[in-house]
Amino acid sequence: MHRTSWSDRLAFLVQFLRRPRQVASIVPSSRSVERQLAATVAGATGVVVELGPGTGGVTRALLASVSPEARFIAVELNPVLAARVARIPDPRLVVRCGSAEDLPQILRDQGCSSASVIVSGLPFSTIPRTRALRVLEAIDRALAPGGEFIAYHARGTLERLVGTQVEGSRLELVHQRMAWLSIPPLRIYRWRRVPSHALQTSPATRQPVASSRAPRRAQVST
Ligand SMILES: C[S@@+](CC[C@H](N)C(=O)[O-])C[C@H]1O[C@@H](n2cnc3c(N)ncnc32)[C@H](O)[C@@H]1O
Repeated sequence: MHRTSWSDRLAFLVQFLRRPRQVASIVPSSRSVERQLAATVAGATGVVVELGPGTGGVTRALLASVSPEARFIAVELNPVLAARVARIPDPRLVVRCGSAEDLPQILRDQGCSSASVIVSGLPFSTIPRTRALRVLEAIDRALAPGGEFIAYHARGTLERLVGTQVEGSRLELVHQRMAWLSIPPLRIYRWRRVPSHALQTSPATRQPVASSRAPRRAQVST
């Protein structure tokens, strides 16, 4: 597995000092986290999206793990970090400098209707709540039925947001585990986007989905 260079570490730290709430960590994710994330996407096909790749350590690990036929779109808000990720020499990789809130449009720009997997390193506890909710709605819209949303996060903020705050969310938590070899330890969550028709039998813990959103989703396909 690729070792994060000192230059990447320094760039990460500098960007953290300049935009602490956006970057939210002084160091990139540990190799242990990279390995665990890579395992969750092993052999993934179709369109794989990474949100908030930072300096690209997780990106490299994911690229090494997904199918050689997969397309890989990385969306990074910070232009300095986006430029670093764009240096990764892999023909499957497209880097877009922009916000995860615009993911559906970013996919359309790339000629894609939806993503089969979305991996997020976004700092949901430090970005403004309204933006965090917009990002989660964008993920919900961009994910193909049956697709997976995988996120790693230090606090429970994201779980609460997805579970109770995103109106009509079609994301169902299927797995979560701790990555202890990380400072701080991270939770790795795996949600699955349930098909719209399955929502009539969604778990009691989830509110029924607003029917006004269903037609917009119907055209989403892998
Ligand atoms: C905690 S760092 C994670 C970096 C990297 N994935 C890692 O694990 O080392 C969060 C990253 O998300 C990016 N970010 C924050 N808000 C974003 C947004 N709305 N859209 C895209 N990227 C965003 C930050 O610039 C930063 O690179």
